[in-house]
Amino acid sequence: MVRRKLQDLDARRLLGGAPVTIVTTRWKAVANAFPVAWSMPVSIDPPLVAIAVHPSRHSHDMLTFGEEFALNFPSKVILNHTQWLGMVSGLLGDKLEASRLPYFRAKTIDAPLLEGCVGWIECTVQDSYTMGDHTLFVGRVMAAQADTEAFDFDAGLWSLADDEYKPLNYLGGRSYSVMAAAFEAHVEERSPEQMAEEGLGKQLEEIEAERAVKREEAEEARDAKDRRGDAEPDTSSLPRARPEQ
Ligand SMILES: Cc1cc2nc3c(=O)[nH]c(=O)nc-3n(C[C@H](O)[C@H](O)[C@H](O)COP(=O)(O)O)c2cc1C
Repeated sequence: MVRRKLQDLDARRLLGGAPVTIVTTRWKAVANAFPVAWSMPVSIDPPLVAIAVHPSRHSHDMLTFGEEFALNFPSKVILNHTQWLGMVSGLLGDKLEASRLPYFRAKTIDAPLLEGCVGWIECTVQDSYTMGDHTLFVGRVMAAQADTEAFDFDAGLWSLADDEYKPLNYLGGRSYSVMAAAFEAHVEERSPEQMAEEGLGKQLEEIEAERAVKREEAEEARDAKDRRGDAEPDTSSLPRARPEQ
């Protein structure tokens, strides 16, 4: 195997292949939609999800002022719509109407949900944090639904039975993919006793002791930071450029 160096700024490409979502928002009766590749769950209970949004996006203001959003998981059927929504800004006009994508009412929020998608998560904005040149919007999940052709409700997983009903993943540039098939991991369960016999026990004990010390140090540092009441960073001077995702 030959390893080749990547530029630091291209490291994000190694995280490519994750689901793309079309984020819909509504503020003052106007809706907008833009694709987001940088999304993730951040808490199970309460259920929280996060999206990273550049301040130059019109949606950045929509999220800040409207305080709600929906994640729509597009299928291959609306691949070109997905790309187009990421190439024009809602600042120029109502791009949702221009896209002619049909939409329907959400259960708990005013932002619309898009047809041609296979899953939908409705959120209210719980928090936002400046992270380098993006803002991380954390959403509290208010409702979620999925297409029964796309999601196996018994297993609680995407079913991956039919390409037309798979969620679209984003590789970068104009490249997308869908998941091919699921594999099961087969792992032999080994007890701590077995591992000790194999000489791993001592090593694990040392790691655990070190972890306890580091956790304590991190907690003390957090408490000290809370006591200082660190001010929120000022984001008003962030560049308003429109970088490629
Ligand atoms: C597939 C795809 C994924 C994208 N992911 C993100 C993202 O995670 N965060 C972001 O700020 N912009 C992302 N963009 C760029 C925005 O979608 C794009 O700038 C869009 O035009 C913004 O629309 P708006 O100005 O109406 O909000 C992505 C674009 C594409 C095509």
